[in-house]
Amino acid sequence: MGTIFFLLIFLLSFYYCIPKIISTTTDVITTNQSIADGETVVSSGGTFELGFFSPNDSTKRYIGIWYKQILPHMQTVVWVANREKPLTNTSSVVLKVNKWGILALLNGKNEMIWSTNTSRSVQNPVAVLLDSGNLVVKDANDDNPENFLWQSFHFPTDTHLPEMKLGKNLKNTAIVEKL
Ligand SMILES: *[C@@H]1O[C@H](CO)[C@@H](O)[C@H](O)[C@H]1NC(C)=O
Ligand SMILES: *[C@@H]1O[C@H](CO)[C@@H](O)[C@H](O)[C@H]1NC(C)=O
Ligand SMILES: *[C@@H]1O[C@H](CO)[C@@H](O)[C@H](O)[C@H]1NC(C)=O
Ligand SMILES: *[C@@H]1O[C@H](CO)[C@@H](O)[C@H](O)[C@H]1NC(C)=O
Repeated sequence: MGTIFFLLIFLLSFYYCIPKIISTTTDVITTNQSIADGETVVSSGGTFELGFFSPNDSTKRYIGIWYKQILPHMQTVVWVANREKPLTNTSSVVLKVNKWGILALLNGKNEMIWSTNTSRSVQNPVAVLLDSGNLVVKDANDDNPENFLWQSFHFPTDTHLPEMKLGKNLKNTAIVEKL
């Protein structure tokens, strides 16, 4: 009897916790929000996550996109923003969208460490992590891909970091050449 009671409490605690976890995740960054180290954006279907990370055996911090379902110790990063400018101290660094539709990584002095670019402006710019793994900057009410201001899929070369462990074949060709 006691065991069943505690099992019930255990299951109920999950029941009440799960909606809270889901309701705090978002797939969008608006001009009123920013992402600090430790906060993430999750694509609507839960496939991809965007946030700060450190590659294996590194203390450097990067903004990237990875597969959410995979366990943290097997993190597979698919895209990196500030590949050329890794951070060592993220305490006052934020990722945000400004009213001109620029998604930027800013330090405490409001200096841009990394940013997207665009040739147009829209009424209500937002950055959205799509379930395809594409990070796009667009108008909040316009889902037409032709009208995206910027998209990470157009910058695929930003994927690999020097610290990232690549597959064996890739390692022999790509990494050894660099060393
Ligand atoms: C941002 O905040 C302003 C003022 O509080 C509000 O008018 C606007 O709708 C907000 N924008 C978004 C994208 O939530
Ligand atoms: C990180 O930066 C913050 C403010 O920008 C500063 O207060 C802090 O001392 C720095 N930490 C280290 C370890 O340098
Ligand atoms: C954005 O920058 C890239 C190179 O960094 C350039 O190829 C592209 O034309 C730029 N796009 C706009 C809209 O300025
Ligand atoms: C860390 O190492 C694992 C296993 O070698 C690899 O699959 C993963 O992509 C690496 N993660 C990063 C962020 O480099």
